[in-house]
Amino acid sequence: MKIKNICCIGAGYVGGPTMAVIAQKCPDIDITVVDINENRIAAWNDEDVENIPIYEPGLSDIVKEARGRNLFFSTDVDAAIDKADMIFISVNTPTKTYGIGKGMAADLKYIELCARQIARVAKDDKIVIEKSTLPVRTAAALKNILDNTGNGVKYQILSNPEFLAEGTAVQDLLNPDRVLIGGDIDTEKGQEAVNALVDIYATWIPQENILTTNVWSSELSKLTANAFLAQRVSSINAMSELCEVTGADVGEVSRAVGKDSRIGPKFLQASVGFGGSCFQKDILNLVYISKTFGLNEVADYWEQVIIMNDHQKRRFAEKIVKTLYNTVAGKKIAILGWAFKKDTNDTRESAAIYVTDYLLNEQADIVVYDPKVNKEQVFADLEYLGTHSSEEIRERVQVLTSAMDATREAHAVAVLTEWDEFQELNWQKIYDSMLKPAFLFDGRRLLEGKSKRKIGFEYYSIGS
Ligand SMILES: NC(=O)c1ccc[n+]([C@@H]2O[C@H](COP(=O)([O-])OP(=O)(O)OC[C@H]3O[C@@H](n4cnc5c(N)ncnc54)[C@H](O)[C@@H]3O)[C@@H](O)[C@H]2O)c1
Repeated sequence: MKIKNICCIGAGYVGGPTMAVIAQKCPDIDITVVDINENRIAAWNDEDVENIPIYEPGLSDIVKEARGRNLFFSTDVDAAIDKADMIFISVNTPTKTYGIGKGMAADLKYIELCARQIARVAKDDKIVIEKSTLPVRTAAALKNILDNTGNGVKYQILSNPEFLAEGTAVQDLLNPDRVLIGGDIDTEKGQEAVNALVDIYATWIPQENILTTNVWSSELSKLTANAFLAQRVSSINAMSELCEVTGADVGEVSRAVGKDSRIGPKFLQASVGFGGSCFQKDILNLVYISKTFGLNEVADYWEQVIIMNDHQKRRFAEKIVKTLYNTVAGKKIAILGWAFKKDTNDTRESAAIYVTDYLLNEQADIVVYDPKVNKEQVFADLEYLGTHSSEEIRERVQVLTSAMDATREAHAVAVLTEWDEFQELNWQKIYDSMLKPAFLFDGRRLLEGKSKRKIGFEYYSIGS
């Protein structure tokens, strides 16, 4: 089966980059990425590719090459579904905020809406692909909806979870460790659908890196991968606290254990805690699924990863307050970095939001600088928590466009995103412009501490 037309529902951090790379590598396939968010689609279509809504190194160039040739962005979801042989569902699957499973289960309402829309529109057979991260066995629900509300056309459901990491999405897509495709491999039609997707990826990815499994294994592997990654962060963060009270240094511990080939060096960087839209929601989802099956010990085991992460954010904020003589009321604290990691403009679940919220509770005045995040996003993130009114946030939080301006006359600076440019700042000049004693809290272990102390900073780094 040769795929000619692809539709991707959801033009977000996954749908946009993934489809841009497939379009670049497969110029003979027409790809339309659709979204109900008109502003997002307008930004994807902005004449200046530097204005596309997602910042990822290298992405603008790929969009420039493929857009208008075989890559299109549109709000006409029905038309794109109708035309497609293959439909990727890449919509958001946030944690439920209401009803059964509130605060834990994945909210599948956007997925279900997509399924119903596909069923209503499709007039010929389609391959439907779960690109979003979904609870294990969601494909069964999708199939049920498609088969029972459709126009009698046949669907094959595949699971093809995305493993890209924001900040390195383009590199990850061009050169993935593996691509995972789950399908109904015991039937001829199912195998045919799997092969059609394998053929697309095989255009640029070696066959041995394209794994095929049954649907349930594929769905569960994505949740497992995120749980394992987050668990490593929480494990090293737990050690960072122990280091601080014992005189060990978490950087040295991490290097020593990471040299063990069974453990490996990646994802052992202590920090103020992981953020991003995925780790927390996917683990909560895993916890919820485990509980649903009565596996309480499994649920408790994974929940601890989240508990540790929340603790790490809180203890970092507490450290700031305690160090500043137990009060930050009316004191100016500069927050360097708002994105949840470097090289992305994504702020979802960023540690900076929670640290700032804690400091606002303590009546601090906050000044934020992030190279890729704008003022309205910072306000929206704080407002979303619902702990402070919009007026209070706008009164007490300033968002500036340079680190120098943000740190001027501050009592303390907190580095919360590991942007490279923070290493290059003129720290002497920053020190000179700050109130004394000048406190510097490094939540990413990004800066070289010795030189900062030499300048005169009271320098605190997580895990040292
Ligand atoms: N962000 C990541 O790094 C990452 C990595 C791997 C997997 N995932 C998973 O991929 C999925 C998408 O994540 P994301 O970060 O791209 O989310 P996102 O919020 O950036 O994008 C989702 C988009 O889907 C759109 N949408 C929702 N319902 C729609 C509908 N019915 N019709 C058309 N458009 C609709 C929204 O408007 C939004 O623009 C999630 O399940 C996530 O867990 C994300």
